[in-house]
Amino acid sequence: MKFVGAIVFLLIIPHLLRAEVPEVTYSVETQNTMMVFSGKPDGKFLFQYYGAKPGDVSQIEKSGIGARMEAYPTFGIECREEKTLQVTHADGNMSVDLYLNSVETTKIDDNISLTKVMLFDNKYPFLVNLYYKAYYKEDVIEAWTEISHQENGPVTLYKFASAYLPVRSFDPWITHFHGNWADEFNMIEEKLDWGLKTIKNREGIRTTQTDNPSIMLSLDGKPLEDQGDLIAGTLAWTGNYKISMDVSQKNRVNLIAGINEDASQRILEKGDVFQTPAFILTFSNAGKGKASRNIQRWARNYAIIDGHKERAVLLNSWEGVYFDITEEKMFGMIDDIASLGGELFVMDDGWFGNKYPRIDDQTSLGDWNVNLQKLPNGLAPLIKRANEKGIRFGIWLEPEMVNKKSELFEKHPDWVIHQSNRETVLGRGGSQMTLDMSNPKVQDYVYNTIHNLLVLNPGIAYIKWDANHYISNMGSVTLPAGKQSHLYIDYHLGLQKTLQRLRESHPNIVIQACASGGGRVSYGYLKYFHEFWTSDNTDALSRLYMQWGTTHFFPAINMASHVSASPNHQSGRMIPLKFRFDVAMTGRLGMEMQPKDLTAEESDFSKKGIETYKSIRPVIQFGDQFRLVSPYDKCGVASLMYVSEKKDRALFFAYNLDENLTYRNPAIKLKGLDATKNYRLVEINKDKHSGGFAADNKVFTGEFLMNAGIQVNMREAYRSIVIELSDVD
Ligand code: DGJ
Repeated sequence: MKFVGAIVFLLIIPHLLRAEVPEVTYSVETQNTMMVFSGKPDGKFLFQYYGAKPGDVSQIEKSGIGARMEAYPTFGIECREEKTLQVTHADGNMSVDLYLNSVETTKIDDNISLTKVMLFDNKYPFLVNLYYKAYYKEDVIEAWTEISHQENGPVTLYKFASAYLPVRSFDPWITHFHGNWADEFNMIEEKLDWGLKTIKNREGIRTTQTDNPSIMLSLDGKPLEDQGDLIAGTLAWTGNYKISMDVSQKNRVNLIAGINEDASQRILEKGDVFQTPAFILTFSNAGKGKASRNIQRWARNYAIIDGHKERAVLLNSWEGVYFDITEEKMFGMIDDIASLGGELFVMDDGWFGNKYPRIDDQTSLGDWNVNLQKLPNGLAPLIKRANEKGIRFGIWLEPEMVNKKSELFEKHPDWVIHQSNRETVLGRGGSQMTLDMSNPKVQDYVYNTIHNLLVLNPGIAYIKWDANHYISNMGSVTLPAGKQSHLYIDYHLGLQKTLQRLRESHPNIVIQACASGGGRVSYGYLKYFHEFWTSDNTDALSRLYMQWGTTHFFPAINMASHVSASPNHQSGRMIPLKFRFDVAMTGRLGMEMQPKDLTAEESDFSKKGIETYKSIRPVIQFGDQFRLVSPYDKCGVASLMYVSEKKDRALFFAYNLDENLTYRNPAIKLKGLDATKNYRLVEINKDKHSGGFAADNKVFTGEFLMNAGIQVNMREAYRSIVIELSDVD
């Protein structure tokens, strides 16, 4: 009897003791937002809240508004609903049950703090650390996870999300971005109904061509530009991703984001640590516009390379000459862009391969030697010519790829992603294949190719890094039979390692991420690349829609936007040069055409356009962006503006998208100005059709411009107007 009593005592007393330890509230805080958790050592760690700062956080518990959901829900005990983590332990057991060990917050500097939550499984030596990095001024939180174990045998990870947010919502909507080649980043806004909505990609390489790992979740109704609570999230990963939103219970959306685990299960050896990519989050209680500005500012301050350095105006040779590169044509293009006031010339595809000259897309990738028929004197005279003309020189490469007809493939057929017992499916040009970046020898080859090119030609200032294939023929000779499923992820770990190595040895080289256009538009890439090629579609009207989508998550400084020929090569559409400039100027302006084809009048306009852009570039590239009238609203107009941080300068852009606008010219209200300042409005970048802007050269208060607006006069389709605002106080 006594003995039984002792057992009861032993079982109950520790429980009672633990029950007495109160739950602690932990918060991850930014200037205007807060993510709140609760838990106690050896207890469950719970997500409670993410939103505007609620004041006294202790009220969350008593109000019942807190989610009280596990912060990182795992599969195996509770098996319903979507989970963040699913594993098979070394002994075959499929469950994980996590408890709190400790929470530590470190102040990294005045603006950044890092919270680390250490969780453990109570039956296995299996650990999960959750990280939340808060950027105070920008209202951004990065969330990621680290998984490790000390089991006596490998553990298989089947699900390994970066972040989980179970957020309250009574009318959830999402804004996401869908596309295709030459049609990327179209904005889709839809109501989330009961069930699971997943945005994902499994291309392996060109992962943002169809969807983008970025969503805005509007909590209480249709997404609006300046109103409403919303959470914006984007995954900083270069490979396959998956963002799911499960509306499975009334008034809650369970958001899970991370690497797409399809065909990617990972075998984790004892002591291995697997770190997931960061999911970048911001919360806005003033609609999409504020969320975009939070992320854009954060990007310039922390996430992208040289976020505060102006980007050069360039000419890219692709649409001007395609593969038909000759020394004479390159000299001509260098001279022309220099005389137009450009600052950089980029020689695109078609300059390499000798055994197999690159005359089309069927051969030569991998043979990165100058074709001596096209460029008999190599690169040196081109670089020299550019420098003599006062501009810089850049070059196109597609380092991760190889053609079947190439010396590289003849030498190293096993470097390609393939399966040795099946015919390899070929990509672009009926001939392209992907090199296996999980292979350290391939990583070295890619690094050395670029390193040697840059060492031999120190005048190369810019690389356009292209990637026109995806992962097919899933198979790697580098990975052991039991770890073939690591390829999707190890490809990217290898690529990132190579890029990091390059960044360290060539810190000044500017690199553009391109993948058949906008196939690499993500913060995963922007750690290594200065900018992205937004789309192979350079039609200014199409670009207005695509660029509108892009602005939801990426600042103008990253968005390469080029003025091309009319009729446009992709759409056949004829659009006035001014409109083409006015669209391209809202990003990183460039040209993509044969300047020799411009008439004298067009050439003159382009020269002035480039000069104008250079004078407004700091406001565009470093300013806050405000979307005013969406082209997706189909009211015939699109309009946006940029405002400098000090609010002393601003740029307003408006576009007429269809006929008949004369009769319904809207007054457009400006945003982001200082209500108390006086601004002079001056129409800039005018052509012979410009004029009739009533407010030209007149002074107005910020208050008036934001409350009453301005009336712009854009007769006919494809007319546009750019207005510069300067503080006159
Ligand atoms: C695809 C890119 O998106 C284009 O801009 C161009 O560089 C071609 N590749 C060259 O092959």
